[in-house]
Amino acid sequence: MHSLLTLTTLLGTTSALSGMLSNTNLPRSSTSKKILPGPRLVSREEISSPILTKRDNTTYPPFLGPRPGDVRSPCPGLNALANHDICPRNGKGYTIPLLTDCLKRGMNMGADFSLFVGAAGIGSSPNFLSLEFDLDQLDHHDMVIEHDASLSRADASTGNNYSFNQTIWDTVLAYYDGTTETSIPVAAKAKYNRVQTESKRDPTFTYGPVQFIFSYGETAIYLSTMGDPTTGVAPIEYVRSLFEEERLPYEEGWRPTAEPTTLGSLAAMIFELNIANGEELPEGLTLTESTLKAVLRGLDPITGKVLDPVLQVVGGLLGITSSS
Ligand code: HEM
Ligand SMILES: *[C@@H]1O[C@H](CO)[C@@H](O)[C@H](O)[C@H]1NC(C)=O
Ligand SMILES: *[C@@H]1O[C@H](CO)[C@@H](O)[C@H](O)[C@H]1NC(C)=O
Ligand SMILES: *[C@@H]1O[C@H](CO)[C@@H](O)[C@H](O)[C@H]1NC(C)=O
Repeated sequence: MHSLLTLTTLLGTTSALSGMLSNTNLPRSSTSKKILPGPRLVSREEISSPILTKRDNTTYPPFLGPRPGDVRSPCPGLNALANHDICPRNGKGYTIPLLTDCLKRGMNMGADFSLFVGAAGIGSSPNFLSLEFDLDQLDHHDMVIEHDASLSRADASTGNNYSFNQTIWDTVLAYYDGTTETSIPVAAKAKYNRVQTESKRDPTFTYGPVQFIFSYGETAIYLSTMGDPTTGVAPIEYVRSLFEEERLPYEEGWRPTAEPTTLGSLAAMIFELNIANGEELPEGLTLTESTLKAVLRGLDPITGKVLDPVLQVVGGLLGITSSS
């Protein structure tokens, strides 16, 4: 009885899902409208398989992916949120209020994260005075967030710094061989290996205090959002879904964490990651929340000097101060 029910549910779900996915690529003729269901919320009960761990009654937004003309970024997190239409699916016109709302709903990101990281995103836009950005404007090397030695993207000088690169990502996954969950020590080693690899082969490798902080930050953010903002333990399956498909792994049982991910929680995890791999800190750098805020405001995290005048302007327009 039970297994029959499960089978029926699975079959129903599979066709409903494939219908939804193919719907996005089909012309909107009246016949296809009749046959195919439109985008809708999929309830937990409709998707049932043995891998589900967290049973609850919440509904969640289905994966829709980009349509022609929609834009995406070098950021798997923002792309995934857009692919579920949690943040706007077209990838355009992202403002601070918009990010604060959709990052909170989608991944329980704290408002401080959306303000400071969103400001850095706006700083990448050629029309930053409008205080918004499109996802395809985030591809701006070393300004401020885009950097070398990414976990899943090639360096700007050696390849496509923008799209997912399986070869590079596989070198990160290799560290998790034989395990099903992430951990701070393993994630830290995988991240440090990316730095060592690129510093050997990329003739224009750039890795100062700012890049140091962002690259740790991105490891901390996948551990936090796919797992736990304190322990950093996440099913590797969830992490792969985020990076490889830019899909939130709802079907596998993932839900936004109960605890929010904030600049404070990220700074604490960055600190732990650095202790775990023993990578030498740039002289004078401390890994704290205020350091994180400083780089996101365009300041040198060691001297406090202005590195990025655009970010200073954006921060000023947004009313960001060191205590925001
Ligand atoms: C305002 C919000 C955000 C902005 C402006 C932003 C921007 C960026 C940019 C420009 C990069 C590319 C850096 C590089 O590797 O060169 C990046 C990478 C990344 N972002 Fe975001 N991001 C935001 C929010 C998020 C969120 C909510 C997540 C949650 C999962 C996330 C996860 C990541 C990860 C894991 C990477 C590293 C990718 C890699 O190293 O291959 N980001 N982000
Ligand atoms: C949630 O689902 C369970 C099991 O199907 C059911 O017993 C319970 O009443 C549901 N709760 C709500 C709030 O719908
Ligand atoms: C992926 O990265 C590797 C290493 O940088 C590079 O050799 C390869 O060309 C990249 N692949 C793509 C499709 O960009
Ligand atoms: C980053 O990659 C994009 C896409 O391949 C390319 O157009 C751009 O020039 C690269 N940026 C830099 C600074 O090399």
